[in-house]
Amino acid sequence: MKALPGTLLLLWVLALSACERREPDNIPVGLAPPQGLPVIPLPPDSPLTQARIELGRTLFMDRRLSHNNTLSCAMCHVPEQGFTSNELGTAIGLEGQTIRRNSPTVYNVAYVEQLFHDGREFSLENQAWGPLLAGNEMANPSIGYVIEKIRVLPEYAGRFEKAFGGRGPDVLTVGQALAAYQRTLVSGNSRFDRWHYGKEQNALNAEEQAGFRLFSGKAGCSACHVVGEKHALLSDNRFHNTGIGYANSMGLPKKHRVQLAPGVFVEVEDKALDSFEQPQPDVGRYEVTLDPADSWAYRTPSLRNVALTSPYMHDGSLPTLEEVIEFYDRGGIDNPQKNPLLKPLALSATEKRALAAFLKSLTGDNVQKLVTEARAAQPADTPPEKDPASTYRRSY
Ligand code: HEC
Ligand code: HEC
Repeated sequence: MKALPGTLLLLWVLALSACERREPDNIPVGLAPPQGLPVIPLPPDSPLTQARIELGRTLFMDRRLSHNNTLSCAMCHVPEQGFTSNELGTAIGLEGQTIRRNSPTVYNVAYVEQLFHDGREFSLENQAWGPLLAGNEMANPSIGYVIEKIRVLPEYAGRFEKAFGGRGPDVLTVGQALAAYQRTLVSGNSRFDRWHYGKEQNALNAEEQAGFRLFSGKAGCSACHVVGEKHALLSDNRFHNTGIGYANSMGLPKKHRVQLAPGVFVEVEDKALDSFEQPQPDVGRYEVTLDPADSWAYRTPSLRNVALTSPYMHDGSLPTLEEVIEFYDRGGIDNPQKNPLLKPLALSATEKRALAAFLKSLTGDNVQKLVTEARAAQPADTPPEKDPASTYRRSY
């Protein structure tokens, strides 16, 4: 029996050399989940290979994927800021246009079944075209325009063909490359995982342990931010009305945090902003299902890496975890469709601190590695010499 692994290895090597045309970069790779996370779902028709992952990473970092060559995916999903934007409640797109929602993190996005805050998209392959084409995000005029641009940029010469068996950039391969990279942004083995699943007794201190007991007990958080027996996605991948969206739509008074200079914030009442910013309507999940029962429901986000991904909620309206806890302690914001699980909790100051301490123990052990890899893939931002639309010639 002892010889078996060696024999298997030999067979594997022979099998590899048999398919000579398969370069190592192109062999589908598996991805072992870190402690605390389940098997990573990988669609069979969009396998992970080293070549695709690296290509997707370059695309994700490339500012030239926007119409005017200024805005990359990574400028809203900033690697150093938890792959979200810590300084913006709601995202800002091409030429300063406002977007009505907060950039969610793309850490652990491989596990998200229905993408976007309202769950309107189902695969990462398709999702990528949302921001590429949205007029207020990367604002490209068409799918073909993006493809032509990638075709003329020297950094991509031959890379798609190598990663996709001779197939160049097209609507499918661009989506697949970006999806492959994003599926590798899995982050677990946090101190919480080491304590809860790895049984390392000292990985959490007493306050953090008390916080977890509240989270899964008195405070009722794990009803939606699920902690399973073997792993914890910290989301049920479902949609709930907590009242945040309702408060926005009904114009309940809300304070905005406005940044005057880097790191300098002031709190401003809604009314003061009305003169230059009209709130954009947002009915959440209702917009996808057209079922009135889904009004102002948003997907439960995972809480992994939540210490890195402020500000919080689909509209970024809660700047700190302490404010999120105050929000839940009040029982959310009342409205006819509020989820009945949300009730005033009457947490003491000590309990609130413990809950926050627990949430801060959910940071994965590989975040620095993922940030470094992303930055190392940053391509130059020399724009194409000619507008891609003017270089296009039909080739058949
Ligand atoms: C202008 C800022 C901006 C840019 C640029 C941008 N995004 Fe996003 N991204 C957002 C916002 C805002 C949302 C949430 C939108 C919503 O829910 O309606 C989002 C959502 C997502 C999601 C869904 C995550 C989830 O948990 O549901 C993924 C994946 C994603 N973006 C990847 C990308 C990729 C890939 C690119 C580049 C091709 C990109 N984004 C470019 C702001 C941006
Ligand atoms: C009824 C289900 C439900 C319960 C119970 C619940 N949450 Fe949530 N949680 C959500 C949903 C849905 C959102 C997203 C709301 C939005 O985007 O407007 C959310 C958002 C959050 C966020 C913001 C994450 C981010 O990335 O923006 C944090 C932090 C959070 N919840 C912590 C908690 C804590 C702590 C508790 C217990 C006190 C709790 N939740 C109880 C459903 C729930």
